[in-house]
Amino acid sequence: MSEAVDRVAVAILAAGRGTRMRSPLAKVLHPVCGVPMVAWSISAAQAAGATRTVVVGSPDGALEAHLPEGVLHAVQPEPDGTAGALAAAVEHLRGTDAVVVLAGDVPLIDAETIDRVLKAHAAAGAAATIATMVLDDPSGYGRIVRDEAGDFVKVVETKQPEDATADQLLLREVNTGVVVFRVDGLGDLLAGVGAANAQGERYLPDAVALLADRGETVIAVEVHDPALTIGVNDRADLARVQQIAQRRICDMHMRNGVTIEAPDSVAIDASVEIGEDTTILLGSVLRGTTVVGAGSTIGPHSVLEDAEVGDGSEITMSRLVLAKVGDGATVGPFAYLRPGADVGNGAKAGTFVELKNATLGEGAKVPHLSYIGDADVGAGANLGASTITANYDGRNKHRTVVGARAKTGVHTSLVAPVEVGEDALTGAGSAITDDIPDGALGIARPRQTNVEGFATRDRDDA
Ligand code: UD1
Ligand code: CA
Repeated sequence: MSEAVDRVAVAILAAGRGTRMRSPLAKVLHPVCGVPMVAWSISAAQAAGATRTVVVGSPDGALEAHLPEGVLHAVQPEPDGTAGALAAAVEHLRGTDAVVVLAGDVPLIDAETIDRVLKAHAAAGAAATIATMVLDDPSGYGRIVRDEAGDFVKVVETKQPEDATADQLLLREVNTGVVVFRVDGLGDLLAGVGAANAQGERYLPDAVALLADRGETVIAVEVHDPALTIGVNDRADLARVQQIAQRRICDMHMRNGVTIEAPDSVAIDASVEIGEDTTILLGSVLRGTTVVGAGSTIGPHSVLEDAEVGDGSEITMSRLVLAKVGDGATVGPFAYLRPGADVGNGAKAGTFVELKNATLGEGAKVPHLSYIGDADVGAGANLGASTITANYDGRNKHRTVVGARAKTGVHTSLVAPVEVGEDALTGAGSAITDDIPDGALGIARPRQTNVEGFATRDRDDA
């Protein structure tokens, strides 16, 4: 952050109605890559070194609970325009030299741009600095009017036809919405902004024009990346912003040593952590608090929600929710790990396997077609195909314990509560209702009866 304005606050305006989202949820709380839109602006402000961040919300207070610790909340009593919004923040700006104003619905602004605009502001000793951009399609944006010398004069709004003249509508330099003000005298300045315009709102850019009018130094600084200024007014805008944000997240991981096979096919939330040399294959989705270690392979087509995966593990075409997988483990294809599933180091939850609230010890294997719920499977145990825990008696859930190195035959039903001892075996097709001691074979199925001649009896009769 610029030395000359070292006490810099950021005010994020977010009290607008956002009606075009058609949602009961406040516009700036709609998620962009898993975090609320407003959190993106807050992160950019903090990365730029803001010593104070103020978010201006509406009187319903909906935003307050979603703001990170240390971020101040100001209330704009009524949505009378962006000048009114900044006025609501002024009491929180005491002791700072400059305030950077951001719009809560322009989430892709970044720290470098904020820093660059601040440096220009400080270098010019300006009373206000407005960040502008030249757009091919400037419709809807406020246009920058300059005089013959090229100096800033004012901004004309274009949302409603009456504010701008036909000539002004040809201007392609727009107000990005990022404006820096000197804090000293800001309250009085904003009080002087009226609402005699097409929308009947108090426009914040008019405060910049007032300063220019008074002969104060006002500069307009052009920024060049149009992605930084995409405003979100409806859900189509939201998708455009999300796509760019997602690309940024993927780029960050790729620079940190993660291979992402097809970045346009994945969804990785901003909050996700991925270790070096991990590969994310086509169509994978990593959400929330998911953490993946180093050298693992996720996908293709795996969905991890609030999941934890260690180093060197493989998660193939599977879904993990609040589940944990250790190092060197294998999951899938087509596994479903539900909350409380915990697959140990070197363990395997294979094809068509569902785990819920169940731990697999080190090297334990559940290779095929199993439901294992409310269970502890010991290290090195191996559950035969289609081993199922009958964990629910219609009223209560019960636990199953399988000892270390035990092996179940295919189609074993483990009727909980039940315990299979260490090194024990079960016979194929057994419904195990009683505990099996260590090292024993538990077999629980009717003996086979062969009826001689039964199958060919008609032919023999003829
Ligand atoms: C604003 C600028 C316009 C600029 C554009 C860039 C004004 C008058 N116009 O237009 O020059 O080109 O941003 O995106 O400033 N808000 C409040 N309280 C209010 C009104 C708005 O907090 O009373 C907040 C909104 O929640 C939003 C931000 O201010 O986050 C911008 O308001 P919006 O109405 O979207 O302004 P634009 O028409 O986009
Ligand atoms: Ca807007």
